[in-house]
Amino acid sequence: MDAAISIDQVTKRFGAVQAVSDVSLTVRSGEIMGFLGTNGAGKTTTIKMLLGFFAPDAGRVRIFGADPVNAAARSRIGFMPETAYYYRYLNLRELLRFYGGLCGLSAASIRARTEQLIPQVGLADAGDRLLAHYSKGMLQRAGIAQALLHDPDLLILDEPLTGLDPLARIQFRDLILALRDQGKTIFFSSHELSEAELICDRVAILKQGRLVWLGSCGDIAGDGGQNLERIFLNLLAPGTPEAPP
Ligand SMILES: Nc1ncnc2c1ncn2[C@@H]1O[C@H](COP(=O)(O)OP(=O)(O)O)[C@@H](O)[C@H]1O
Ligand SMILES: [Mg+2]
Repeated sequence: MDAAISIDQVTKRFGAVQAVSDVSLTVRSGEIMGFLGTNGAGKTTTIKMLLGFFAPDAGRVRIFGADPVNAAARSRIGFMPETAYYYRYLNLRELLRFYGGLCGLSAASIRARTEQLIPQVGLADAGDRLLAHYSKGMLQRAGIAQALLHDPDLLILDEPLTGLDPLARIQFRDLILALRDQGKTIFFSSHELSEAELICDRVAILKQGRLVWLGSCGDIAGDGGQNLERIFLNLLAPGTPEAPP
């Protein structure tokens, strides 16, 4: 079976800024991978290449074996951007109807998916409430519902934990684990290490555009001295030689 995501020696530069340098990474179908790094590490740039927004300068990316400029490959991705600006004066049902129309779904399948997704993301009581009155955590859930509308196999979430309170984090975690149990592959970026450690099967750590660590969370768990935060701290400390991935 093709990997959900394959990133092969990818490099991307913006003028003088080397945003992504020779990154190679495979995300297996059905796993949750956390894509970690501090601000400016190159996470969003990598995600934009996975979505086919722009091409790498060198190397290549594949989504289930296909080029992401290919519409069939893209249609297997559900994406939640780092900052989603939704129309505040729509309610969630209207928002999903709008996005479903953009995806080319029929009115009947939009209705069916909407009624399935709203409770699935924990917004059963809020489907008719204006997004203007949603909390940050509720907007994240609305964003996940939007990303899931066309029933994609792969979810790519850019910083889904940012701004969530502790309860919303727990709910987000449960939702992501439930989606994995349904067979979805989840790739999400974060700088929230302890959260990532709790839900990810594996994490990849990016530092200044380079992949500096890739490992399974099972390897880390139970080792009090070597939790993810400790690994991260060591990797990011100034002057620390970069460990090979
Ligand atoms: N469109 C762009 N033009 C110029 N520089 C960019 C652009 N997008 C990102 N960068 C730069 O690339 C680096 C990586 O950014 P980004 O991928 O957004 O990091 P992250 O998502 O990990 O915070 C940063 O130095 C950023 O300023
Ligand atoms: Mg980013």
